[in-house]
Amino acid sequence: MTKTLITGGAGYIGSHAAKALASLDREVVILDSLVAGHRDFLKWGEFEEGDLADTAFLKDVFARHDISEVLHFAAFIAVGESVEKPGMYYGNNVRNTLNLLDAMMEAGVKRMVFSSTAAVYGEPVTSVIAENHPLSPLSPYAWSKRMIEQILADYGKAYGLKHICLRYFNAAGADPNNEVGERHQPETHLIPLILHAALGLRDNITIFGTDYPTPDGTCLRDYIHVTDLADAHVRALDYLGSGGDSGAFNLGNGNGFSVREIIDVAREITGKDIVVAEAARRPGDSPALVSSSIAARETLGWEPRLGDIREIIRTAWDWHQKDLA
Ligand SMILES: NC(=O)c1ccc[n+]([C@@H]2O[C@H](COP(=O)([O-])OP(=O)(O)OC[C@H]3O[C@@H](n4cnc5c(N)ncnc54)[C@H](O)[C@@H]3O)[C@@H](O)[C@H]2O)c1
Repeated sequence: MTKTLITGGAGYIGSHAAKALASLDREVVILDSLVAGHRDFLKWGEFEEGDLADTAFLKDVFARHDISEVLHFAAFIAVGESVEKPGMYYGNNVRNTLNLLDAMMEAGVKRMVFSSTAAVYGEPVTSVIAENHPLSPLSPYAWSKRMIEQILADYGKAYGLKHICLRYFNAAGADPNNEVGERHQPETHLIPLILHAALGLRDNITIFGTDYPTPDGTCLRDYIHVTDLADAHVRALDYLGSGGDSGAFNLGNGNGFSVREIIDVAREITGKDIVVAEAARRPGDSPALVSSSIAARETLGWEPRLGDIREIIRTAWDWHQKDLA
C-alpha cells in the first residue's frame, strides 16, 4: 500500500492534507519538529517528531517506514521575517529540503509534491497569473521557494525525481467539520487577523494602502480554501503515482477580493462590528494577485469545491471561535 510522508503535517495546510489522505484510507506518516506545528493537529497517521536538519533522523524515518511519496510542507513561512533573517529562511527552507531530498534519493523515494507559493511570481505583469508568468521573487522567503523549484528540476534530471510544485495563492478557511484549522503564531494572514478582531483579541484590523488602482483602493487577493488545497495535493500525488510528468501548478479560485470586501463579508458572517484602521501601503505588496488555475483543472482534474468566499470565512470563523474560546 502507498505510504505518504508529510513533512510539516502538524501545521495548518499539512494537517488538512493528512486528513484528506486518511479519509481515503491511505497510510500517512507525519514528520514535524513542532517548531510551528501543533500536537493537537496530529489526528491522522503516525507521528515522527524531529527536524529536517537532522540527517540521521531522516535516514532512520525512511529506514523504518516503507515510504512511497512525500508531501513537503515544512518551511518557515513569514515573508517579513525572511527579509530580516534570510539565513534562517534559506537554512530551513532550502538546506533542509536538500537533506530531505538526499534521504529520499538514498531510500529510492522518487515522488514529491512541494508547497510553493504565488510569491515566486513577484510583481505581476498580467492581471491574471498563469504558470508561465515570469518568476521574480521579492523576498528571501519567495526566493527560497523558487530555489527549491529549481533544485527539484535538477534532481529530476540527475536522479529521476518526479515532482509537482503547487503554487498556492492565499490559503484560507478551515476544515468544514471543524477538526482542524489555522493557527499561526504570530499570525500574519488577513482572514485570521480580522477574525481575531471580531473576537476582541485585537482592537482593530489595519488596512495597509487604500489608494491602490483597484475598485475600492485596497489590495485584491485570491483566497483558496485549505480543504481544496488538500484535495489538490491528493490529486497531484495520484497524478505522479500514475506516471504523470513533473510540473508546476497554480492553486487559486481565479477571483480577486479586496481587503475591504473581505472585512465586509467577515462582518456579515460574524455579526460583529470589526473596527478598521487605515495605514500607508507596505513595501512589496502588489495591488492584485489573482490566479489562473486552468492547468491544475485540466491536468490534475482539480476543481475548487469551497470557492465561495462566504464559505471560506464561515469555516474559518467556526474554527476560530472554537480554537480561541
Ligand atoms: N499559509 C499560506 O497561505 C501559504 C501560501 C503559500 C505557500 N504556503 C506554504 O505551505 C506550507 C505550509 O504552510 P502552513 O501555513 O501550513 O505553515 P505552518 O507553519 O502552519 O506549517 C509548517 C509546519 O512545518 C513544520 N516545520 C517547519 N520547519 C521544520 C523542520 N525543519 N523540520 C520539521 N518540521 C518543520 C512546522 O512545525 C509546522 O508544523 C509552507 O511551505 C508554506 O511556505 C503557505
